[in-house]
Amino acid sequence: MTTPRPETLAKLTPVLTKRWLSPDAWRIGTYEKLDGYAALRKALRAHPDDLIQLVKDSGLRGRGGAGFPTGLKWGFIPQGDGKPHYLVVNADEGEPGTCKDLPLMTHDPHSLVEGVIIASYAIRANRAYIYIRGEAVHAARRLRNAVQEAYAQGYLGRNILGSGFDLELVVHSGAGAYICGEETALLDSLEGFRGQPRLRPPFPATHGLYASPTVVNNVGTIASVPYIVLGGSDWWKTMGTEKSSGPMIYSLSGRIANPGQYECSMGITLRELIELAGGMQPGHNLKFWTPGGSSTPLLAAEHLDVPLDFEGVAAAGSILGTTATQIFSDQDCPVYATYRWLEFYHHESCGKCTPCREGNYWMVRVYRRILAGQGTHEDLDTLLDTCDNILGRSFCGLGDGATSSVTSSLKYFKQDYLDYIEGRTAPKLSDKQLVGA
Ligand code: NAI
Ligand code: SF4
Repeated sequence: MTTPRPETLAKLTPVLTKRWLSPDAWRIGTYEKLDGYAALRKALRAHPDDLIQLVKDSGLRGRGGAGFPTGLKWGFIPQGDGKPHYLVVNADEGEPGTCKDLPLMTHDPHSLVEGVIIASYAIRANRAYIYIRGEAVHAARRLRNAVQEAYAQGYLGRNILGSGFDLELVVHSGAGAYICGEETALLDSLEGFRGQPRLRPPFPATHGLYASPTVVNNVGTIASVPYIVLGGSDWWKTMGTEKSSGPMIYSLSGRIANPGQYECSMGITLRELIELAGGMQPGHNLKFWTPGGSSTPLLAAEHLDVPLDFEGVAAAGSILGTTATQIFSDQDCPVYATYRWLEFYHHESCGKCTPCREGNYWMVRVYRRILAGQGTHEDLDTLLDTCDNILGRSFCGLGDGATSSVTSSLKYFKQDYLDYIEGRTAPKLSDKQLVGA
């Protein structure tokens, strides 16, 4: 276990996490004592267009994985079109390794509710939804309680704080399908249909919920808004890097001493995060890691000093994604880890398009063969060829994401594959596990 140096400790920037350790921070009384709903009062005195400009000026980018500029997205909502507008919060956090939105909603649900009200006012929406993972029962309970408290205090409902602005907020629990985190599948699910991705464009900004203009934003994105309203865009930009502003909640898991959520300025490195987390577990040396969940290409020990912002990770050949850094050591096998992720994608594929549905099915079978000690050198070409036919040819991001760990593990850890194929590594799967994909 290492002790963080003062300069590394200074990298912790508790903004969205600042109330998490306060007792009962999820109750409205505590939240209000800790600056809660002050941003809403300020926002309701501003013109909605000025709020959109403020968010644009802050450089806030989506925290769900894609990093799309939030103010720009809000600005896409057509005004004076006579249609209802909607705000939908994507709280269907499901990317393997990702654990930042659920603790936020559990410890500090009012920051999300406050962000929803401000964002809805900015885009002129009178109805908002929070679509939360069905399995997240405790977080959903906290959230529903927060919504009830906000109604009781006049922060939701008709004529909010005498401003003339009305907003109804509904918390909707999904039914546990990973694909419902894809924004258009989420909208289908919310409308009562089977959750399957829709063709984009048109994007939800113009044709979203019930074919009306809709902003779909991640929990962390919306929960950032009250802080930007109170602190201003210049303050927000004092954290992070030029094109990736603000703090970010990095969720660390795997072979480190203290897994958990670490909120730091964007651009921190994995080396610094591991130090903050007390170092690697004794006896483990870093071998590979995901910068942002299993849909992002793996990185290796040589990438310890890559800045973890959108540009830095892209320059290293991966994607910042959900900032779920899953850390694996020299005692873990990248072939087996990739196989387990592929099983997940195969299971969660909605089946709408052939490259993803069939490609993941076949790749799982090839991995089983390799891990059972029956793989061939040609299997590696088959895997790359299959990825080539999935990437960019799938209907939604799930298909593309499934290929990430396959291509990157073959790039950095081909020897581990060869060790199974050439008999230097003992098989991890038995013959019986070869079938049944
Ligand atoms: P995307 O880049 O296609 O879109 C991002 C956002 O920008 C969407 O809301 C989209 O509607 C909007 N947008 C993009 N271009 C637009 C345009 N021209 N006009 C209007 N709006 C536009 O990314 P996508 O497919 O929505 O998300 C992919 C990311 O999701 C991946 O990078 C992955 O990291 C992440 N992900 C997160 C999960 C989680 O649990 N948080 C689960 C799985 C994936
Ligand atoms: Fe469904 Fe996969 Fe196609 Fe996405 S890529 S639409 S999850 S089959």
